Amino acid sequence: MKVLVTAGPTREPLDPVRFLTNRSSGKMGYALAGAFAHEGHAVLLVSGPTHLDVPAGVDFMAVETAAEMHAVVASYIGKMDIAVFAAAVADYTPALVASQKIKKSGETFTLELVRTADILGSAREEFGFTGMLVGFAAETENLEANARDKLVRKHCDLIIANDISKPGIGFDSDENEVLLVYPDHSEPLPPASKYELALHLVDAILALKKLMVES
Ligand code: CTP
Repeated sequence: MKVLVTAGPTREPLDPVRFLTNRSSGKMGYALAGAFAHEGHAVLLVSGPTHLDVPAGVDFMAVETAAEMHAVVASYIGKMDIAVFAAAVADYTPALVASQKIKKSGETFTLELVRTADILGSAREEFGFTGMLVGFAAETENLEANARDKLVRKHCDLIIANDISKPGIGFDSDENEVLLVYPDHSEPLPPASKYELALHLVDAILALKKLMVES
């Protein structure tokens, strides 16, 4: 199979020395990319800035902004059988990027942000992707309902949902505990390291792919 994985945070510049980002470490996406490659699949990892090593046997494209990630995914997704969107993409980016360092002046500073493109949400209609589409949902409340809403809204085959209000799992942690949300049912997986979990997730994704091919 040819598999595209997005991972890591994006970095949205404000001026030459500042940017907006988030706490994503990229660990879950990198673990998934490594696990697919370990199972013999051809993986393209499209990642925002992280401190991680690229897993063995994985093709890699580095991006910074949500717009760059959108452009790279748009050019490569057509060749893929499976696309897994684990990146924590900024939902908003500064309306203007200053060409020189912004100097402090008043006591307050107001920043205008504009929406970024929803990359996962663009996969079906804008990119015309017909392969298996897997998204992530990081939620602090109503985990299953919010994840199921994303599954439908973004035309996914599976959402991997995690409750980031639980201490020690999810963002920036080595452990994770997820709920697999399918169109017709949900299935919790026990807590595990992101590496172990990635192996289970690859099995679940490939099992679903097999079912989809057979039906
Ligand atoms: N995602 C993406 N591009 C974006 C934002 C999100 O590809 N600009 C993908 C993420 O990689 C993840 C999924 O969409 O797979 C969930 O993102 P999230 O931001 O939680 O979804 P939203 O629909 O924006 O929901 P919320 O209302 O929670 O902001």
